Amino acid sequence: MTLWHGRLSGGTADVVMDYSVSLHFDRRLAHDDLRGSRAHVRGLGRGGLLSDEEVAVLLATLDRVEAELDDGTFVFEPDDEDIHTSVERRVTELAGDVGAKLHTGRSRNDQIATDLRLYAKRELAAVAGRVLDLQDVLVIRSKEAGDTYLPGYTHLQRAQPVLLAHHLLAHGWALARDVDRLVATVARLDVSPLGAGALAGSSLPLDPDGTGADLGFAGRFENSLDAVSDRDFVAEALFDLALLGVHLSRIGEELVLWSTEEFGFAVLDDAFATGSSMLPQKKNPDVAELARGKSGRLIGNLTGLLVTLKGLPLAYNRDLQEDKEPLFDSVDQSKLALAALSGLLATVTFVTERMEGAANGSSVAAVDLAEWLVEQGMPFRQAHSVVGGLVRDSLERHVPLAELVEAHPALGSDAVALLEPGVAVTRRTTPGSAGPEAVAVQFERFAHRLEADRIRVSALS
Ligand code: ARG
Repeated sequence: MTLWHGRLSGGTADVVMDYSVSLHFDRRLAHDDLRGSRAHVRGLGRGGLLSDEEVAVLLATLDRVEAELDDGTFVFEPDDEDIHTSVERRVTELAGDVGAKLHTGRSRNDQIATDLRLYAKRELAAVAGRVLDLQDVLVIRSKEAGDTYLPGYTHLQRAQPVLLAHHLLAHGWALARDVDRLVATVARLDVSPLGAGALAGSSLPLDPDGTGADLGFAGRFENSLDAVSDRDFVAEALFDLALLGVHLSRIGEELVLWSTEEFGFAVLDDAFATGSSMLPQKKNPDVAELARGKSGRLIGNLTGLLVTLKGLPLAYNRDLQEDKEPLFDSVDQSKLALAALSGLLATVTFVTERMEGAANGSSVAAVDLAEWLVEQGMPFRQAHSVVGGLVRDSLERHVPLAELVEAHPALGSDAVALLEPGVAVTRRTTPGSAGPEAVAVQFERFAHRLEADRIRVSALS
């Protein structure tokens, strides 16, 4: 029996139920739904709508339903449209007339909005925790990397040498912004919609402030229409996760490149690599590729929801049921991606000789030659042109750059020293730059930030 059979005559066409049922995905909100119901029951008690005894009976019944759900004895019925229906039906079966009072002053519209906010609060905090775990891995690998350097690239062309730690921490800072966004999203969604009813509140003495506080929300809705129709928090969560996914895809793409024979900068641990069903020699970076590929569906989940929300009139519309699957999917996929990439990065071997070898070509120190000339008083544009000419000459005439530098009247042997392997990277000394001293400072700042973020994230739950 549906919750709303009183108004309609006869049965609902089977296809309507098939089409509209959401139980198969919203049942994962069962615990949040029970939490919401307990707070609602206590609120009804405070308003005098339930006696103390009725409150006690309903709370005990809700506990029993929860136990049945936990131990797998809960039986879902074919007419259960959604998790709210299942729980209320079972409460009524167990508690009889008192059960029929559970939904007093409440609608599934404020109920689902409440459930989903509880879920989002908890799960976004869990995702943020996993981002922090990945950042921890980057910290460990950065520390281990010591003074190892590799080419930094622009346009995927070798540009200037950078410390490996600097490169790894670059990803770490992007992830720090993800944590920031998740924390801010949780702060904004921390508003209880319970008590908004179907759309307009109630004539009964409900207690939205009290139920909101009971559920641990920072406050309650200001406008009942907004409370039941607002899914900004889902869109924000999906954006946060989509951008996190984009960051993970960029890390994934680099690991794909680095583990090619052509680059040879990284060797994946066998536990985080896959083989080929046909080619016996293959060791494939599937985890990194999936981090790259799955970012597509995270973006799809966001765009799908925005299109669903666009143009919806106030207040609740059934379209809003389409909010849950993308949110669940993005949360699940982000958690998996973070765990898999953390494992991959924790176990990958960096081939430091290959990295440094690739960064030791003399032309990656070209800008150091130009800056050396600037120190001697030459305007930068002129210095750029002098060095550019030498690089061109060296390539065209197949003469080592060092020889040409040595012979050049404005450069000479002091300047040649800049071309020695490992020298250029030590000359990146400005704040936030890629050289050892600046990176040591950056490392401390990053570690500090990470520690502070751990505290912020654990305060969310
Ligand atoms: N399953 C519904 C959803 O997820 C619950 C709310 C149903 N409300 C309604 N008026 N039919 O949105």
